[in-house]
Amino acid sequence: MIKVILDCDPGQDDAFAIMRAAQHLDLLGVTTVGGNGFLPNVTRNALVVLEQIGHTEIPVYPGHAGPSTHELVTAPNVHGKSGMDGPVVTEPKRKPEEKHAVDFIVETVMNTDDVTLIATGPLTNIAAALNREPGIAKKAAGLYIMGGGAYAGNWTPAAEFNIWVDAEAAYKVFHSGIDLHMVGVNLTRQCPVDAKFIAGLRAIGTHAAVFSAELCDFFARGGDAHLHDACAVAWLIDPSLIESAYLHVDIELNGTLTRGMTVTDMRHLQTTKRDVDIDLSSTARWDDHEEGSPFRGQAPNTHVAMRLNYEKFVELVQETMRNYL
Ligand code: RIB
Ligand code: CA
Repeated sequence: MIKVILDCDPGQDDAFAIMRAAQHLDLLGVTTVGGNGFLPNVTRNALVVLEQIGHTEIPVYPGHAGPSTHELVTAPNVHGKSGMDGPVVTEPKRKPEEKHAVDFIVETVMNTDDVTLIATGPLTNIAAALNREPGIAKKAAGLYIMGGGAYAGNWTPAAEFNIWVDAEAAYKVFHSGIDLHMVGVNLTRQCPVDAKFIAGLRAIGTHAAVFSAELCDFFARGGDAHLHDACAVAWLIDPSLIESAYLHVDIELNGTLTRGMTVTDMRHLQTTKRDVDIDLSSTARWDDHEEGSPFRGQAPNTHVAMRLNYEKFVELVQETMRNYL
């Protein structure tokens, strides 16, 4: 099984990421970061999810409460006051670990071969770990993030929430040289949490499935929700689920309208007849369009998720929930 550390800010969709990782990957630990909710809440939520699925052997390490450069902005409008509203649950019996998330990430990656990092919240902890030990970029087997978007945002027209919350941390990560896989909102918009998806979960009937359906009842109450974080974990579990392109991505830090944007260079990818759809199989090089272009292309640095096999994704989520008692 692939060894992973999951850094997250539960978060109803982070909860799905935890549930899938705990069953299909060797989840060495969950680390938490301020994002959807404040650190104590997202840490409690991570403990709740692990208790609900009977994985109280997986440790939870609290990390940074928020960005080092400015005040944390949370998303109670999306996730509720607790950060993971929906199911009525008892308080977790377990406490989180004393060790800081960044210490756990640095020590584990540097002392264990082939650990893959997954981040489904703001990149504050990941950037702090890279600042502490730049060697992580090469020692880690890779980093899968839910964050950004190839050509749109969700928190602002240009920026996705996880990147926007701590754009400086994202800049550090995208410039670290780590083997980076980005699942942005251009991909996760293909993963709706609709009534059919929720009913499919409820029909499974296991405790985990009903718990997941209750998470979705709240998360999708506005009618247009997507299972963002589960897509990042799904890509690692089954690479056939997602088609991607290897592109140059950089983080806008100063734009009035565009701060936090993951600026993705797709200029060399030919569009197909289907409007914004692009030919992922095109063999054009990133610098093929250079002649006359005012902006030089830069070598790719990120595997950008572009297309999801949603039907197969749903099947795999349902299989995970069936396998939990
Ligand atoms: O923009 C979606 C991301 O922001 C997801 O990770 C969700 O949990 C929130 O953190
Ligand atoms: Ca999240």
